[in-house]
Amino acid sequence: MNSLAWMVIAVLFFVAAWFAWKYYDLRKKIGTYSEQVKRSPENLPTDFSGLENLSNTIASLQSTFNLKLETLNAETSRLAAILDQLTDGVLIANSTGQVQFANPAAKKLFDVDDPIGHSIAEVVRNHQFIEAWRKCQQTKELQTESVELPARRQFLQLIVIPDKHESGSLLLAQDLTRVRRLETVRRDFISNVSHELRTPLASLKALTETLQNGALSDPEAGPRFLGRISIEVDALTQMAQELLDLSRIESGQVELIFAPVSPKQLLTSAMDRMKMQTERAGLKLSIECGDLPNIRADKMRLEQVLVNLIHNAVKFTKPGGAITLGAESNSRYVRFAVRDTGAGIPSESLVRIFERFYRADKSRAGSGTGLGLSISKHIVEAHGGKIWAESREGQGSVFYFEISVL
Ligand SMILES: Nc1ncnc2c1ncn2[C@@H]1O[C@H](COP(=O)(O)OP(=O)(O)OP(=O)(O)O)[C@@H](O)[C@H]1O
Ligand SMILES: [Mg+2]
Repeated sequence: MNSLAWMVIAVLFFVAAWFAWKYYDLRKKIGTYSEQVKRSPENLPTDFSGLENLSNTIASLQSTFNLKLETLNAETSRLAAILDQLTDGVLIANSTGQVQFANPAAKKLFDVDDPIGHSIAEVVRNHQFIEAWRKCQQTKELQTESVELPARRQFLQLIVIPDKHESGSLLLAQDLTRVRRLETVRRDFISNVSHELRTPLASLKALTETLQNGALSDPEAGPRFLGRISIEVDALTQMAQELLDLSRIESGQVELIFAPVSPKQLLTSAMDRMKMQTERAGLKLSIECGDLPNIRADKMRLEQVLVNLIHNAVKFTKPGGAITLGAESNSRYVRFAVRDTGAGIPSESLVRIFERFYRADKSRAGSGTGLGLSISKHIVEAHGGKIWAESREGQGSVFYFEISVL
């Protein structure tokens, strides 16, 4: 071998040694770097000599990852807050029907403290709901079921949605009790109104037919029938007005104008309005009221309540009886009372008289439509107060309502 060959071998040897050393150094640095990444991933070195490119890329990847994680955490906590506040119950069950998540509303609706880990059947305790869940598991299609639970006086709707990823299901429970009750009230209301309209309309029809058939020219019967027509029309007008008042108050369209009101003045002005009517009915009307603190009230509306109550007392008390208006107070409220010595109200009716159209004794109620007390109740409640009655059949009634003092 000549010297040139030896030189080439020597150079090759040094180059190989240099590469080997470089390789060894790089591995050592990668080892140290990964140690550091493991030890404090939130504090990555970006200027690691020899690995600048790699460390920069990893650091930027990590900050993107952190940002995404933060967004994800924020979204998860927002979702958790929504699920917590949601009035609909949410249950998540796995493929075997074991509950894995339940929001507070679900626990309340199904009346269970800790449904996690229990089976759907144990939690919902209703065969129609269990069947809906089973069907959803089989068909992988959305199922809806509505059930009335008489024991709990609840009307629930359950929607079972298949969970495509986990092969489990999501159950959404809605309490439709209130909606159902409102529907019933609406239906009753319409049937009551039509029933109440039918009687005066039938009378009007009969009266006009009698007039058409010759009574119009009768000097005695003609004016009498016209008088009856006028009474029926008045009753219809009053009913229309009361219904309008009621719907306005109920829908919150009536804005109460609150101001300081003296209880004694309120009683006096209601008495002045009803004096003539009471005298004509042969009744005594009086006030028993000392000096009381002012209340916060809409004077016109509250006077309407008193007038309604006095009007009833007049209607249901025989001549010779007495109606007493009173008021007394404590530090929080003034309690008004309208007392009569009239027919009284049977105890089974006492709980119902504030309902719309309710009349205890239809034969005695005369021209009334049964709306006066429900209007009064709404007005008192709009003042933040309460109204109730006490009565003994044959001895008389007392209607009370309380309004806060100023
Ligand atoms: N002071 C009372 N004495 C005896 N029964 C009463 C008295 N007040 C109310 N009632 C009973 O309560 C029912 C409901 O009263 P409410 O004022 O709502 O209706 P109404 O007087 O019959 O009709 P409206 O007030 O609409 O003209 C009456 O029909 C009556 O049976
Ligand atoms: Mg009345």
